[in-house]
Amino acid sequence: MTRARVITIDGPSASGKGTVAARIAEALGFSLLDSGALYRVLGIAARKQQLSLHNHQQLARLAADLKIEFGISGPGSVQLNGEDVSQEIRTDAASKLASEVGAIPAVREALLQRQLAFRQPPGLVADGRDMGTVVFPDAELKIFLTASPEERAQRRYKQLIGKGIGAILPDLLRELKDRDERDSQRAVSPLKPAADAAILDTTKLTIDEVVARVLELAAVSMDDGTP
Ligand code: DC
Repeated sequence: MTRARVITIDGPSASGKGTVAARIAEALGFSLLDSGALYRVLGIAARKQQLSLHNHQQLARLAADLKIEFGISGPGSVQLNGEDVSQEIRTDAASKLASEVGAIPAVREALLQRQLAFRQPPGLVADGRDMGTVVFPDAELKIFLTASPEERAQRRYKQLIGKGIGAILPDLLRELKDRDERDSQRAVSPLKPAADAAILDTTKLTIDEVVARVLELAAVSMDDGTP
C-alpha cells in the first residue's frame, strides 16, 4: 500500500508557516496538521487543571487523553473537551506554555501517534518544528521557512495591532528570541531544518510569493513521470 503524501513545513514562530501550510493544503486538496496547536492545547489544558510543568508523566498522560477536535466551529477552529479554545490557544501565554511542554520528551512521545494519524489520502501538509526531522522523516517535500527575528517580531506586532490588541515591539522581539532559543536548544526534536529540506528565507517575500514557490516545489516533487 502506498502511503499518503506528506509535505512538511517547519520553522520558527511567526515565520509564516501556519498561513503558508493552510494555503498549500487548500490548493492541493490535502488535509492539514497544525502540530503547534496540539502543544498549545496541551499547555492550556495543563494550566486549567493546575498541573505542574515539572510532572512530566502526568503531562504525558494528559497529552495522550486530551479530546482535541479541529474545524468543528469553522476552519482553523480548535475544541478542547467540547470547549472552543481557538482564541485562547493563540495568546502569548499559550505560546509560552506550548514551548515549555514541547521541551518534555514524554509529551512529544505521547503526541506522536496523534500526529501520524493525520496522514490520510490524498495527502497531508504538516506544519511545526520537527515535522520533517522526526514525525514524517519520509515526507516527499520538506520546507523550512525562516525570516529574521526583527521581521518576525514586526509581523506579529502588525497582527496584534490589527486585532486591536496592544503590543510593544521590543517585548515581542525578546519573547520571540526566548522561544527560538528554547525550541532550538532542547534535547529532543529541536527546531532545525531536515538535511533534505528546502530552506526559504521569507524576510523579503510576501505570503503569495512564498506560497507560489512552495507550490512549484510541490509540483516537481509530485511529478512521478506519468504524462
Ligand atoms: O507553531 P506554533 O507557534 O503554534 O508552536 C507553539 C509552540 O509549540 C512552539 O514554540 C514549540 C511547540 N511546538 C513543538 O515543540 N513542536 C511542534 N511540532 C510544534 C510546536
